[in-house]
Amino acid sequence: MSKMKINSKPDLSVDFAGIKLKNPVLTASGTFGYGEEFAEFVDLNKLGGVIVKGISLKPIKGNPPPRIWETPSGMLNAIGLENPGVDVFLGEKLPYLRKFDTAVIVNVFGYSLEDYVGVVERLGSAPGVAGLEVNISCPNVKQGGIVFGTNLKAAFELLSALRKATKLPLIAKLSPNVTDITEFAKAARDAGCDGLSLINTLLGMAIDVRCGRPRLANCTGGLSGPAIRPVAVRMVWQTAQAVPLPIIGMGGIVTGEDALEFILAGASAVAVGTANFVNPRATLDVIAGMEQVMREQGMSDVKSLIGRVSVR
Ligand SMILES: Cc1cc2nc3c(=O)[nH]c(=O)nc-3n(C[C@H](O)[C@H](O)[C@H](O)COP(=O)(O)O)c2cc1C
Repeated sequence: MSKMKINSKPDLSVDFAGIKLKNPVLTASGTFGYGEEFAEFVDLNKLGGVIVKGISLKPIKGNPPPRIWETPSGMLNAIGLENPGVDVFLGEKLPYLRKFDTAVIVNVFGYSLEDYVGVVERLGSAPGVAGLEVNISCPNVKQGGIVFGTNLKAAFELLSALRKATKLPLIAKLSPNVTDITEFAKAARDAGCDGLSLINTLLGMAIDVRCGRPRLANCTGGLSGPAIRPVAVRMVWQTAQAVPLPIIGMGGIVTGEDALEFILAGASAVAVGTANFVNPRATLDVIAGMEQVMREQGMSDVKSLIGRVSVR
């Protein structure tokens, strides 16, 4: 780890799969809209990048309410990938985001292989898209995400088809709802992906014991927030040992210290998700917190911390 004089500003810049980030802090898909929704709280120019809410070929209405339930140190959601579709994204959302000096990573989703290929092809020729994050891990839709994210052969075939469909950096977003996440990381590597994102939400359920019904209309939902952080850090660490692809680590990041945990575990960048709902300026607090801890510890360059947890 490189050391520096206390008080000088640490270098937070990283290169993620060829995408230059001024700092490693991104927004987790689905928790920051398309950037505009948070722009009154956050100067988007200060972020390493914005990963937008998942985009599909056609608009999706999502699941019926209730779609959110707060849990100890976390929340369950079953939004069901509501989004306006790729045409509205290209016509209205991307032109707004392009104005900022931040990397725009588009999260994509489909119900079938053809859907995924269609949306990836549409995005590939759009100026201002730095990379694509492929959601193969949504636990809240019956077809699509969960099938591709929990079946090795399906994941490999999908990612291989997408590799042929785009030259943009391709980042596979992996599901934690599997026995061994490193197998899926290897499938993504073999399919030609440039990076990995982990973790998506953990499948969960909550029940109202007074009326005997599930808290979410969808019955089950995805658990996120600080409650899942140790699981996420463990999975990032295991994956970083198994596969040499760069990783965007996420799951319960609230502070700069949380973000540095993921970096030491092997992530090259991090994404802040559920924390944005509690504190819309969470991303900026995470950046400031990273700088503060690094300054205190005399660490000059975040790149020198990636994967540097010392395990005896
Ligand atoms: C309300 C909500 C919506 C989400 N929507 C998406 C999505 O559209 N695509 C996706 O890949 N992940 C989605 N996620 C998962 C997050 O990007 C992230 O992987 C997960 O929440 C863990 O990070 P966190 O604990 O910091 O929230 C969503 C999460 C939440 C809470």
